[in-house]
Amino acid sequence: MTVYRKLLPTDLNAYRDHLLRLSANDRYARFCGFKTDEAIAGYCRGIDWRFTIMVGCFVRGELRAVAELRTEPKVWPGAGELAVSVEPGFQNQGFGSGVMRRILTMARNRAIRRLVLICLTSNRRMQAIARKFLGDLESDCGEVTGRIQLPWPDQVSLLQEALDGGTAMVNGMLDQWQGAPDPEPAAA
Ligand SMILES: CC(C)(COP(=O)(O)OP(=O)(O)OC[C@H]1O[C@@H](n2cnc3c(N)ncnc32)[C@H](O)[C@@H]1OP(=O)(O)O)[C@@H](O)C(=O)NCCC(=O)NCCS
Repeated sequence: MTVYRKLLPTDLNAYRDHLLRLSANDRYARFCGFKTDEAIAGYCRGIDWRFTIMVGCFVRGELRAVAELRTEPKVWPGAGELAVSVEPGFQNQGFGSGVMRRILTMARNRAIRRLVLICLTSNRRMQAIARKFLGDLESDCGEVTGRIQLPWPDQVSLLQEALDGGTAMVNGMLDQWQGAPDPEPAAA
């Protein structure tokens, strides 16, 4: 079963392991530069959960895709930067779009008004998603930037997030039951 949900600080190791499973090319695309295993572990340790929102996609209980939104309220009030990662073997199946759609709803509901996403010019797949959700892209010096001005939250966006949260809870429970081994036959 596929479960989308907000990531919590207790998911930090799962996020680190997800990033470590990215191929060298995907790591380069995700961070717009090389990252060793140690650098990825350090990056995860450095996450400030007060200013970071993440949505993950769990496939059969394993974290396979994440949208990460970083904000810096003191430096850029009301603004944030987005990044998405989907593991090899799970790409091109809609998971990147799935986490992206959900993180945009969450950002909007937290009154984040301006979002930016930067990816490499060669990253056609990310550009397809960015174009779908953010609109026109700007290209410069080997990088492509997507920007979006989010509207204020409204009843629909709040309801959407509540529905996403409720669906995540129900799917998470069903997933656990499905994965549970058959109970031992009761002793006579
Ligand atoms: C980029 C990435 C996040 C995309 O996630 P994904 O789950 O594979 O993407 P989706 O399946 O949701 O959508 C892919 C879109 O790209 C399109 N696409 C696929 N290959 C393409 C190509 N060669 N050229 C143009 N578009 C392409 C698909 O048609 C689809 O668009 P659609 O939904 O309008 O049909 C994922 O491949 C990834 O994690 N790559 C490595 C890390 C990375 O590049 N991160 C981005 C940095 S912010």
